[in-house]
Amino acid sequence: MIDGVGGERWIIEGGRPLRGEVEVGGGKNPAVAVIAASLLCDEPVTIENLPYIEDVRVMIDLLGDLGAKVSRCGRTVRVDPRTVCRSEPRDDLARALRASSYLLGAMLGRWSQAQIPYPGGCDIGDRALDQHIKGMRALGAAVTDQYGVIRASAKGGRLAGAEIYLDMVTVGGTINLLLASCRAKGQTLLFNAAKEPHVVEVANFLNSMGARIKGAGTDVIRVTGVDRLHGTVYAIIPDQIETGTMMIAAAATDGDVTVRGCIPTHMEALSAKLLEMGVRVDDHDDVIRVRSTGIRRALTLKTQVYPGFPTDLQQPMTAMLCTARGVSLITETIFESRFKHIRELARMGARAQVLDRVAVIEGVPELAGAALTATDLRAGAALVVAGLMARGSTEILNPHYIDRGYEHFAEKLNALGARIIKEGRREDHAKAGA
Ligand code: EPU
Repeated sequence: MIDGVGGERWIIEGGRPLRGEVEVGGGKNPAVAVIAASLLCDEPVTIENLPYIEDVRVMIDLLGDLGAKVSRCGRTVRVDPRTVCRSEPRDDLARALRASSYLLGAMLGRWSQAQIPYPGGCDIGDRALDQHIKGMRALGAAVTDQYGVIRASAKGGRLAGAEIYLDMVTVGGTINLLLASCRAKGQTLLFNAAKEPHVVEVANFLNSMGARIKGAGTDVIRVTGVDRLHGTVYAIIPDQIETGTMMIAAAATDGDVTVRGCIPTHMEALSAKLLEMGVRVDDHDDVIRVRSTGIRRALTLKTQVYPGFPTDLQQPMTAMLCTARGVSLITETIFESRFKHIRELARMGARAQVLDRVAVIEGVPELAGAALTATDLRAGAALVVAGLMARGSTEILNPHYIDRGYEHFAEKLNALGARIIKEGRREDHAKAGA
């Protein structure tokens, strides 16, 4: 995507507390993985509660381009993988997002061979795939990674279960190895697995098709390979990061927002930090209410794998901490380049500096509106939070990054009392229902 494409920008009139109720959409990260996983099935699959976001649109297009029969009706997509006739995902689509890497595990698991261009995604760090490849090799695949293309094929025609020790906790690696191993011969044990909700979601989806996966959500997952997978109807869980971003936006604007249709247990790490800051957080069933008390204390915060504080919420949280009382220390342990939003926040008067993987933020009384550029999805969300908090008008260039992962973000915030005007919009895929 070309930066500043179409002169697209969002203008935010800041200083308006958010109030009211908002409903969260289906999760981006579970959705893109489940769409890829549908290729593993021997029958048509129906996926419900898919969010209207760019990354979901691209994943659906990738499957369609491979020859799968895909039909979409609102938030529901039906995928018939029996018509797949191409073995290589389209280059430009695959490079548009990280989740195209799941096609490697899914195609290898289904057809015993796969070839994908090196995936794209947000530029937040190196984002290697060595653990995915190591795991696939352990399952008996010959894998090459050359000239930007990864090729894998099962030696002997079918993958075989194995014991795989991941050197680090990787969400994508864990999911890709679940996809590759669920139809392998025999049992696979995945040690040091990621425990994120979307890992559990992919396991639940595969199990709903007849896979035999136990232990997802713990750090040891046991997969007993099956010969075939049957059709299913499956609804995607609510988006953990959209929920968290709305909670942060509510607190950052000294507002009072009730987030509906979410899973409060997925939000424990964030809720604990908001409480520590002095924000009031109440939850019951699928509802979380976030209320400002007028107090905003500085924090020490470290991103960690689940159930630790999610890296995807670090950027919006950093924006809010710019006006907290005292000095906040934020350590980013997952991605090495996830502080690009800090230099934009500095344009608004934030006193922040980055020392390697730690951001030091000295709270100021208020931020002032400025012209800003989004560099990635969650950086975009952080700038929106900052714009909502700031005095005066903020302009955000490259808002297309936000559309990759937030469903109708500006519209939902405006319904809570924000004032965000979109200018120079491209065709709205969401409205077109594409
Ligand atoms: N890593 C390796 N080798 C590997 C795999 C990962 O070195 O083989 C490293 C990465 O470079 C990174 C760390 O391990 O430093 C964690 O990477 P992980 O594999 O867990 O992340 P991912 O699968 O690439 C997913 C989400 C991200 C989210 C991370 C962490 C999707 C499509 N993406 O990425 O979401 O930040 O897990 O929770 O699920 C976002 O939504 O904005 C986003 C970036």
